This record gives sequence, structure tokens and C-alpha cells, in this order.
Amino acid sequence: MASTKKLFENNIEWAEKIKAEDPLFFQRLAQQQSPEYLWIGCSDSRVPANEIVGLLPGEIFVHRNVANMVIHTDLNCLSVIQYAVAVLRVKHIIVCGHYGCGGVAAALRPERHGLIDNWLRHIKDIYFRSQEEFTACVDEAERIDLMCEYNVVEQVANVCHTTIVQDAWKRGQELMVHGWIYSIRDGVLRDLEVSFDAPEQVPEVYRQYPTAGRR
Ligand code: CO
Repeated sequence: MASTKKLFENNIEWAEKIKAEDPLFFQRLAQQQSPEYLWIGCSDSRVPANEIVGLLPGEIFVHRNVANMVIHTDLNCLSVIQYAVAVLRVKHIIVCGHYGCGGVAAALRPERHGLIDNWLRHIKDIYFRSQEEFTACVDEAERIDLMCEYNVVEQVANVCHTTIVQDAWKRGQELMVHGWIYSIRDGVLRDLEVSFDAPEQVPEVYRQYPTAGRR
């Protein structure tokens, strides 16, 4: 069995390496964090937020759960978003999915996995609503990958529908929400081009405040 001792050794090496490059790095970080980005990603161990986008500790605020979901009643995720937006005043919220997501795959199969099925049912809901979009998929892998994209788009909308994001827009805070997808096969990120930065882009029924003008 692999020992956890190795992790402490790694940690010392890592901290020494950072200090060698920038002696005041940890001193500065201990005083404050001021990340510009909130990352909402999958818990999958192959999708580490900081590494993928080449950011150091202190530069990105991170929330991860199975299948990168933003559920209206998930106090954990909502609390992260609130802190990131209202206190840290991040400028970008990135929902990042990944192809071949195990959570998405599990949701598309008629199998029991335990408690997590209740969490994954949100993905089934999205799939059920847009089933006809999947008829061109040649196999299960393609269906899963397309569903991974649809899931990101849905979660971006869920972020925009929160009172937190709409309150920020209402007070004129600069805040953009993005949907990205990461490929484990080649390590490359892709922008799904579903970025939102204004309440007018949100369907009327989801707006928390009346808005004039275009929809
Ligand atoms: Co995943």
C-alpha cells in the first residue's frame, strides 16, 4: 500500500522550491488572497484546476464536486460562489467540465451506484430534456462527451440564475461567467463560448430584477 508519508516529503520539496523562486511568496499569501477567478470543476483527479491553467496558490478560488454541478439548493456551492463574488470579488467564474466524465457516464446508464444517483439525476434531467440532440451520436463515448458539454452549458446558466451573480450585476460589479471543457486525452481546454456578463442575457423568468431593453 502506498504510504502517505511520501506526500509530506513532496510537500516539503514543493514549499522549498517555491521559496527558492520567490522567498516572500508564502508571507504574502498568508496576509491575503485576491484571486480573479472562481473555478467550478469536477472532482476527477485528472482535472486539477491550478495546474491546467498554470496558476499558483492564491490565484484561483476553487470548488469541485462530482460532474461540476451548480445546484440551486447546494449550500456548499452557493456559499463558495457568494464568498468568491461578494468578498473576493473575482472577475470570472469558470464552470469547467471534462470529456469522458465518470459522473456523466454513470448518469446516462440505467445502473444503481448508491446515494450519488440522487446527485446525478440532475444530469438525467438535462439529458431527458434534450434527447433529440443526441440522435446523431455514433456511440456511447460520443454521447457522453456531448452530454459533458450540455452539462457545462446548463451549469453556466445555473450560476447566472443565482441571486449572488444577479446581485453583483445589479450593483454594477464586473463579473463574467464562462463554460469551458477540458480534454483528459490531450490536456487541452476549450471555450464552449457560453459566456455571460449581464442580466439581459438571462431568460426573463430567471431574472431577479426587472430589466429594460433587449432579451
Ligand atoms: Co468528471
